[in-house]
Amino acid sequence: MTDDDSKKPQTRCMTHGYDPYLSEGAAFPPVFRSSTFLFKNAREGKRAFEIAYGLDERREGEIPALIYTRVNNPNVEMVEDRVTAWDGCEAAALFSSGMAAIASTCLAFLRPGDTLLFSNPVYGGSEALFRKMLPQFGIQTVEFPAECERDELERIARAQKNVRMIFMESPANPTILLTDLSAGRAVADALSMPDRPVLLAVDNTFMGPLFSRPKAFGADLVLYSATKFIGGHSDLVAGIAMGSAALVDQIKVIRTLLGAVADPQTAWLILRSLGTLEIRMRQQQQNARAIVEFLRVHPKIARVAYPGLEEMGVSQRARCERQCTGSGSLISFEIRGGEAEAFRVLDAVRAWKLAVSLGGIESLIEHPATMTHSDMTPEEQARAGITPAMIRLSVGLEDVEDLRADLERALAEI
Ligand SMILES: Cc1ncc(COP(=O)(O)O)c(C=O)c1O
Repeated sequence: MTDDDSKKPQTRCMTHGYDPYLSEGAAFPPVFRSSTFLFKNAREGKRAFEIAYGLDERREGEIPALIYTRVNNPNVEMVEDRVTAWDGCEAAALFSSGMAAIASTCLAFLRPGDTLLFSNPVYGGSEALFRKMLPQFGIQTVEFPAECERDELERIARAQKNVRMIFMESPANPTILLTDLSAGRAVADALSMPDRPVLLAVDNTFMGPLFSRPKAFGADLVLYSATKFIGGHSDLVAGIAMGSAALVDQIKVIRTLLGAVADPQTAWLILRSLGTLEIRMRQQQQNARAIVEFLRVHPKIARVAYPGLEEMGVSQRARCERQCTGSGSLISFEIRGGEAEAFRVLDAVRAWKLAVSLGGIESLIEHPATMTHSDMTPEEQARAGITPAMIRLSVGLEDVEDLRADLERALAEI
């Protein structure tokens, strides 16, 4: 354990992995735009390639030389060293998008004949990858309800052949239902063989890394769209896969071959964002709680979904208490009516911005059925609990009174 390892996540996120005196004393790391890096000698170059291409394992404490920015880069590595602080994972791989992280993780571990189980619903891009693309490569994909209990998950899993990975999104986008991570671990263990472990991968974009830490509940891999809270300013697109060094090294081999790494400028923007991650997420959560209290009692709202709320039911509340240290700042709600009434609200708001994405400092509002999840058939949407009356909110950092008043005015238009 180094001195830095003993520091709190907030401190590690601001300092770890950077020696200012190697960069002219620059207090904040510069952007290393160089596409290629010099080796001190041929032996150092050979060793760097052995590790990067997975020909040999890294020795304890070994820091290989940098090679080429598609493989590794100082800004990218600084982000990777820092982001693991909250989740407690050993290693991370930074990607050019959340989808690049998710797709590369699938390609690293799934082979023709394997089965992937995934919680339903998931983000629309993951959904299309699982339902449409992976089956074209001979990978079977089978959904299970996000809200299901362990018995049901195990029954679904045991009915499949060659289960290799369980993918959970928690909370589910856009229904905000928490999946049971411990159940995912238990079922993965029950189906694992000594030479064929079943991996549990968790998309932690909505509540991580502050309020949900899937590794503590047995996740092998924790995945992020870093475009969201980690970036936090709606000015970059990036993704992260984290887990043990052994698993992340396998993912990095795929990343190198696909050329899916984040560029240095994006990595640098994330370094800027990491220092305010905790304070942003906590304040966004505080604002979200005030909005939830307003929506819950509004006569034009039929149902509000937010982690930990009484109306989410006993099982969801128990999961929230067990798995989460907060509730985050994503809310979905159903208004009384359908698409036409939902659209009237979306068109009437001013302080809320009508846009997909989430986790940035500005508050966003969207309509999952016709926007983020429009690729699903009406039957798939109905099965996943996505209705025409559903609206999703990502609460930002504006004054919460302005946000509340704007919603109140927009709801009055129905
Ligand atoms: C839960 C979740 N996972 C993954 C993604 C994909 O991330 P990206 O847009 O960075 O590729 C998103 C995007 O909205 C998301 O909401």
